[in-house]
Amino acid sequence: MPPITIQPNDRHLTKYYSAIKELRDAQVKPTEGNMRRAFGALLTGLGRRRKLTLIDEYATQGKGRRHIRPDGALVDEWKRPFAFWEAKDSSDNLYAEIENKKSVGYPLDNIIFEDTVTAVLYQDGLEARRTYIREKKNFAALLTQYFNYKEQARQSFNEAVQSYGEQIRDIATQLKAKIDAAHQDNPEFQRQFDEFMELCRRSLNPNISMEAVDEMLIQHLMTERIIRRVFDVAHFTQTNVIAAKIEEVIRALTSAYFSRADFMGGLRHFHQAIEDAAEDLDFSDKQTFINSVYERFFQGYSVDIADTHGIVYTPQEIVDFMCAAVEEALESEFGKKLGDEGVVIIDPATGTGNFVVNLLRRAHERNLREFEDFYKKRLFANEVMLMPYYIASLNIEREYYELTGRAAPFEGLCFVDTLDLARERQMTFLTEANTERVERQKKADINVIIGNPPYNVGQVNENDNNKNRKYDVIDQRIRETYAKDSKATNKNALSDVYVKFWRWATDRLGDRPGIVCFVSNNSFVDQYAFDGMRKHLMQDFDQIYHLDLHGNVRQNPKISGTTHNVFGIQVGVGVTLAIRNLTTLND
Ligand SMILES: C[S@@+](CC[C@H](N)C(=O)[O-])C[C@H]1O[C@@H](n2cnc3c(N)ncnc32)[C@H](O)[C@@H]1O
Repeated sequence: MPPITIQPNDRHLTKYYSAIKELRDAQVKPTEGNMRRAFGALLTGLGRRRKLTLIDEYATQGKGRRHIRPDGALVDEWKRPFAFWEAKDSSDNLYAEIENKKSVGYPLDNIIFEDTVTAVLYQDGLEARRTYIREKKNFAALLTQYFNYKEQARQSFNEAVQSYGEQIRDIATQLKAKIDAAHQDNPEFQRQFDEFMELCRRSLNPNISMEAVDEMLIQHLMTERIIRRVFDVAHFTQTNVIAAKIEEVIRALTSAYFSRADFMGGLRHFHQAIEDAAEDLDFSDKQTFINSVYERFFQGYSVDIADTHGIVYTPQEIVDFMCAAVEEALESEFGKKLGDEGVVIIDPATGTGNFVVNLLRRAHERNLREFEDFYKKRLFANEVMLMPYYIASLNIEREYYELTGRAAPFEGLCFVDTLDLARERQMTFLTEANTERVERQKKADINVIIGNPPYNVGQVNENDNNKNRKYDVIDQRIRETYAKDSKATNKNALSDVYVKFWRWATDRLGDRPGIVCFVSNNSFVDQYAFDGMRKHLMQDFDQIYHLDLHGNVRQNPKISGTTHNVFGIQVGVGVTLAIRNLTTLND
């Protein structure tokens, strides 16, 4: 968004000046409570130009996790605070009040302190400007600076990201050509690759193709540097339990014939532009960027590998709605809070980890006492593609750090195919550490399953032959339940992956009471082939709520195209909340 300039005769300013005059004239002794309405209206009006919403009495944390409540925060579409505001009485000593607020840890990144006479702007911890409010020109300049905070950095970052996005396809293609050459004439690489491929066959997918493994290397190379540099996680490739393994293969690729720098070749200037521009930005902006790298990579380069519509990051509004729904169901049906002992949650198709991040924020806000244990013991997530897996670990671990001020790996995250976990057989999962994580997950009494599973046949990875991928246990369970009890002659629709996820989730609850909340293709609600699945869901759960988000083009050709669908796809989508509450959740 381009910077904005607020003129002294801006209509919102004019309104503000007349409002404070009116309020002053009407009262013998104006108080902060009375006067601040006018300032709030000013920020609300100007904020709209930047798509910012003013939240009154914004609850956040100051020093030592102390709860503080600035009079207002301007938040963006992602609900992230962009700026704060604190009002004081004109009879208070504004400077003493500011010192007081500083001492309890008020956020000083971008905040206005004002008492209707004077306004003081702090940015990046320092006083950036102060002025009498009656000096219209100066006050307008202060507001301009406030609303354009970090705009320059954000703009150049956005430009660099835009250009990176446009080039992703070419970048990935160049990397692929180099890997192809190494397959031909780099014996050390060939050896490492074969070993790694065998490992992938054993632990990820027996049908995995060479292309899919090449793809992993490309995803690694393309994400690893960004993570390391933009997100300042210098040791990512050593500490991440999967990245370390893939580094070994890549080292072989780079050692004999090319240097790593050569390998990344012409990409350096892109990375550099992004790294330079990112320096000044906060984590949430970078997070938006890394999420878009994920989407663009799959949409731009891997169209036929990951069905374009499967690998999308779930809109925040849907994530938030579903997490809130689960939280409410836990309280109303089981008398439990999110994070409580006895509540064990998994997102089985985590993508970039948005559900987990949202759940962490909620648990931290409302169940601080249990938060640490929740993060370390009772929260899990699975992902089968490398790039989103890396991003999920980064997002989740960073969220934990932001909330607690401490760094701790998210050991609930597994690089694994969730549907494989229905098998009893002992398996290894790529690395020892990842295998340990999977084993811990398998032993956990999971009773809440939430997420956005893939919902088209073959959505995971065409190259892996996933269209035909057999999941012995789950496929058999579908045959003996959903298919057996269906009157339809053509039952092909039951091989849709989202159906497998429903079967898996229901079986994963076992006999326990619990909750499954998925956003998915909603053909199962009314289409013929799903009569058996409906019957079983009704038996397996006591209550099922479905929020139809519509968007089925076949049912309504008037909405043809993809703009009427939350995921930009042509099949109907909906959120389902299924609750089994035979008894209360056991501790
Ligand atoms: C629709 S996306 C979920 C997006 C996620 N909620 C987010 O906001 O980033 C589905 C994700 O599930 C992953 N996935 C697909 N099949 C899987 C499986 N069998 N096991 C684990 N993950 C799987 C895909 O790679 C993809 O990242």
